[in-house]
Amino acid sequence: MIRPMTPADRPAVLALIEATGFFRPDEIAVAEELIDITLGRPEQEDYAIVVVTDETGAVAGYMTYGPTPLTRGTYDLYWMAVDPKAQGRGYGRILVEWLEDHVRRAGGRLIVIETSSSEKYEPTRRFYLGLNYTETARIPDFYGPGDGRVIYTKRVS
Ligand SMILES: CC(C)(COP(=O)(O)OP(=O)(O)OC[C@H]1O[C@@H](n2cnc3c(N)ncnc32)[C@H](O)[C@@H]1OP(=O)(O)O)[C@@H](O)C(=O)NCCC(=O)NCCS
Repeated sequence: MIRPMTPADRPAVLALIEATGFFRPDEIAVAEELIDITLGRPEQEDYAIVVVTDETGAVAGYMTYGPTPLTRGTYDLYWMAVDPKAQGRGYGRILVEWLEDHVRRAGGRLIVIETSSSEKYEPTRRFYLGLNYTETARIPDFYGPGDGRVIYTKRVS
């Protein structure tokens, strides 16, 4: 099941972000900041967060997304993570497909996802390619020396 994140989900979401072992402390701080903006300022429309729950109702994964400012119909998938204990069971696919449906219904056209070119993110890149995202651009050394930014896009309508 996919539903909007609530303040009660905060500890579970932060725990799963840390548990992935993927993100540096400064990256986790940014993820936390986005969570606080989204939960604390319901009037803002730039960011939204949904969680996916397992059959017991526990949070298995989360995703932050929003309409890209100054575009018409483009959405960014800003962050997503699935609890390592629940990875490989389809939760990531469910989240991305949910976003595609949501964007389509909202009259959007294009989803943009950015990730790192580093070896560590190879499985993540394969995940997006497997969901039919196209590598549209690559900016060498963007995040750091040898660590480029890879931009994936998918047209959803
Ligand atoms: C990337 C991530 C969100 C994927 O979530 P997940 O729930 O494990 O993925 P799913 O089980 O839904 O997999 C969906 C498809 O992608 C494929 N896939 C998932 N992980 C993969 C991997 N490591 N290598 C190759 N393919 C992979 C699956 O085989 C599956 O294909 P199928 O549906 O045809 O069988 C998750 O692994 C994660 O949280 N990674 C660490 C954090 C991260 O990288 N976040 C994104 C930051 S940009």
